[in-house]
Amino acid sequence: MSARPSQPWWHHAVIYQVYPRSFASTSGAVGTLEGVRQKLNYLQQLGVDAIWLSPFYPSPQRDAGYDVSDYCQVDPTFGTLAHFDALVESAHARDIRIVIDLVPNHTSDQHRAFQAALAAGPGSAQRDWYWFVDSEQPPNNWKSIFGGSAWTQVCQREDAAGSPWEDDQQWYLNLFDSSQPDLNWDNPQVREYFDQVLRFWLDRGVDGFRIDVAHGLVKDRSLPNWEGEVSMVDGGEDDADTTRAPMFDQEGVHEIYRRWNAILASYPGERMLVAEAWVDPQTRLARYVRNDEMHQAFNFAFLCCPWQAQELEQTITDSLHAFRQVGRPATWVLSNHDVVRHASRLGLEETGKGPNGIRAREPQPDAALGLARARAATALMLSLPGSAYLYQGEELGLPEHTTLEDKWRQDPAFFRTKGAEAGRDGCRIPLPWAHDAAGCGFSPTGETWLPQPPGWAELAADLQSADTGSTLNFYRRALALRRDWELGQGEWSFQPCEGGVLRGINRCEGGEVLVITTVSAPSVVPSDWVVKLCSDPTLHLRAGDEIPVNTTVWCQRGN
Ligand code: BGC
Repeated sequence: MSARPSQPWWHHAVIYQVYPRSFASTSGAVGTLEGVRQKLNYLQQLGVDAIWLSPFYPSPQRDAGYDVSDYCQVDPTFGTLAHFDALVESAHARDIRIVIDLVPNHTSDQHRAFQAALAAGPGSAQRDWYWFVDSEQPPNNWKSIFGGSAWTQVCQREDAAGSPWEDDQQWYLNLFDSSQPDLNWDNPQVREYFDQVLRFWLDRGVDGFRIDVAHGLVKDRSLPNWEGEVSMVDGGEDDADTTRAPMFDQEGVHEIYRRWNAILASYPGERMLVAEAWVDPQTRLARYVRNDEMHQAFNFAFLCCPWQAQELEQTITDSLHAFRQVGRPATWVLSNHDVVRHASRLGLEETGKGPNGIRAREPQPDAALGLARARAATALMLSLPGSAYLYQGEELGLPEHTTLEDKWRQDPAFFRTKGAEAGRDGCRIPLPWAHDAAGCGFSPTGETWLPQPPGWAELAADLQSADTGSTLNFYRRALALRRDWELGQGEWSFQPCEGGVLRGINRCEGGEVLVITTVSAPSVVPSDWVVKLCSDPTLHLRAGDEIPVNTTVWCQRGN
């Protein structure tokens, strides 16, 4: 084992995202927390340092749990608080930390605060928890990220008929679904409420929080119209950019994160906050992780970067630079529950952020190309200093489900865009654990809440575990080397990028590690270097051998 790391764990951790609905079930079609606990040996063997759990709270599941109706409970579908406690205890016993998802931008409309606001009526203190506005028309032109207007009139709600709010003309803001009303973070009671939520889970031993829509909590109070493109990404050239969206990346959000930082710091251990903030450019994003705010921010610029050597080099360089400036680690991520899985995204004609889901009638990714590039991208990512995020199933090389029938879709984006966007269900398919079991061993009943695509069984974890040439064993090897060599704590420098090939050196506990990624042209293993990891686990390359295109190798000096 290498020397004890001197920096906090989250500086260099590999954090594995568990999407509880689709990870493993101990009951039926939907995954459970006990299912996660029973797979901890698998995660330990994979070599991750922490798990980030997507929401498991009580929720009507209109947005797969990102519509929370009670922040301090477990939805019975997923289990109980006792199951949660058992998961934390078992994970900690294996040195695996637990990060949970906090959704502070909006609640579910079934949350008691919103129900109280509806009942209390216009002008009440209860309505001041949200953005209720008197207006004949929608108060402005803001659009929901999921499609349609960002405003819902109370009297037009499905539950209005026969209710006390039947004739209520007020509008409320919902940047996502109409069942996800935005909270008013200018209200001190909202701030106090979330302080308590943080403490509730910190007291239960969680190691951190992933903050959903971290750039969205504070809005420009004048609610001006916004002609810019409506997407999660708020881009601007510099800090003074007047074209910044009025609902994202407002200065006021930072005060909230300073307050939370202080709460976390009052607890023992190294608790952390990671921002889901779709903010451009990187220097602007880095402001979320100044030393009295959050600790990490997801690097979506890296996720969205096209498979192009110079652009990758630029994005990596910018990321390292921007986060170094504020003394925080860069982070890296290629897949999550909101984007097309990178094994498919990188097999599309046009690489980059990718579409919002893929359907059978749309251009299909090249599966073999996608998988080769995905593994190469992962090996590049895991060689970089900082902290890396993995999304469940990427270690199996899982592709997106690109032929899911529309009748199965559940993503509100599919419905709110009236089917113009397929949405995110295709990256949320229940995992294949056992090749010869019904539902690929996802649940004891064989049920899965979304159907698995053809070929899922061949990708099952049990088969891959036994196959040295599998994607799973490539991930295990990469994570083990990354840990032994302390790549996450190394110093990175690029060598000049030539002809579609990236070359970088990570100076770390493992010495000088040369990383070569053949993005769009082949290369050769240089003499005096020994290949220790190859993203194509079936290749055994030596000095002088050609490294085929779409491959990453990690080399150490030697003969
Ligand atoms: C989450 C999404 C969710 C949205 C609204 C996000 O960015 O990752 O899955 O739909 O926030 O909560």
